[in-house]
Formats: sequence, C-alpha cells, structure tokens
Amino acid sequence: MKEINNIEKKFFNEEDKVLSLRDVENVVEKMQELKLIHSCAIKEVSTKLEILDYEFKIRRKRNPIEYIKSRVKSPESILDKLQRKNVELSIESARKTLNDIAGIRVICSFVSDIYEIAEMLKKQEDVTLIEEKDYIQNPKPNGYRSLHMVIEIPVFFSDHIESVRVEVQIRTIAMDFWASLEHKLYYKSSGKDSVNIKKDLKECANVIAATDMKMQEIQMEVEKLE
Ligand code: GTP
Ligand code: MG
Repeated sequence: MKEINNIEKKFFNEEDKVLSLRDVENVVEKMQELKLIHSCAIKEVSTKLEILDYEFKIRRKRNPIEYIKSRVKSPESILDKLQRKNVELSIESARKTLNDIAGIRVICSFVSDIYEIAEMLKKQEDVTLIEEKDYIQNPKPNGYRSLHMVIEIPVFFSDHIESVRVEVQIRTIAMDFWASLEHKLYYKSSGKDSVNIKKDLKECANVIAATDMKMQEIQMEVEKLE
C-alpha cells in the first residue's frame, strides 16, 4: 500500500492534485503490466543462458555459469532514476529512458567464459544488441569490472509482441564478490577517510583481477591436461 501511495504521489500528485480511485487503479494496472513484460523478458533471457550453459556442459564437460541473479526494478527505484535523469515521470517515459528495468547478472567461473557467453547470446537471431560496455578491458576508475550489455528481445503475448530491453551484467565470482562489498561500503564511506577507503578498495579490485587472471591460466593448463 505504501508503494502505491508513493507512485500515486510521485507520478500524478503535482500541486496537491486530488486523485480519483480510477486514476490510482490506472497507474497500478500499468505498473503491473510493466512488471509482467519485464519479468517475462527476464525468463526468456534466463532460459537462453541456461540452455547455453547446459550445451557448454555437454560439449566441454563443465558449466561456465556459476549462477544467475535477476530482478525487475522496483517502482520506487524507477521513479528515483527518472527523477535523477530529470525526465518525465511516467510509465511510458520509464520504458523509453531506462535500460535496466529488467536486469540479469550472470556469474561465470572464468574471465574467458564471460566473453564466450556474451558472444553466444549476441549471435542469437532474436537478440539485438543495443549497448555494450566492457569494464573488464576498461575498468572503472574505482576498480569496478564487469561486462555490461543491453539487449532487446521479443516477448510473445496472446495478441501482440513486445520488444523488451534487458540489462545483462556478466562477471566472474571474484568480480561479483568485489562489486557486492564495494556497493555496501561505498555508501558508508564519506568524509576525510573516504580517499583512503577508495584507494584500498581499488587495490582490492586489482588483487582480485590478478587472481582471476591466474585462475584463468590454471584453467587452461587443466584443460590441456584433459
Ligand atoms: P545508469 O544505468 O544510469 O546507472 O548509468 P550507466 O548506464 O552509465 O551505468 P553502467 O552501465 O555503468 O552501470 C550500471 C550498473 O552497473 C549499476 O546499476 C550497478 O549495478 C553496476 N555498477 C556500475 N558501476 C559500479 C560500481 O562502481 N560499483 C558497483 N558495485 N556496481 C557498479
Ligand atoms: Mg545503464
């Protein structure tokens, strides 16, 4: 109920405009539709990834994907992001502006698996690549590493087809470990110590990247032995 109140306030309640029950029902219905479309897109992309993982396992005797996490962005986060971007606060504007209403995080074993999975996904006929950012080749200044892609896929409903964008972040277990902890620590680190904290976090990111490289080399050695 709190969520509905917030949506109602932020989407329509400029200057204390009084909302009719019909207005509220309308927004709730549209939010449900938005969630449906994006949950279905996540299901589709997750299935694609599971199939690729399964096929890889059969052919190469190991799973390149450790696990997959996904989420549909909450109405609150959608509104916050629209406000940050300074664009219209509406569901239509959210669909137009935001690439990460549907988000999937793919955690791979080795760095090479990230690129193999990404290539296999991009090659599929119904997948359109909208945007790609390689923060592994070009890490962020803070040390963040991951491969980001925004893809678009068709989702088939009873009477129409929707093209839906999904943000796919692909990273190793080590990169995910760093990103998860950095995310928690970042918001807490402010003030005069924050420069040191940032430096320490970046050092950790570099150590982790070096370990990922070493693990990759070991993996290649093992594959040769096999
Ligand atoms: P927005 O989509 O508006 O956030 O901007 P963008 O498209 O430039 O973002 P980008 O593709 O660089 O990153 C999007 C997502 O990647 C974020 O929502 C986070 O999940 C993740 N991410 C990016 N940078 C960092 C970082 O420095 N630390 C952590 N922990 N996660 C990050
Ligand atoms: Mg983005």
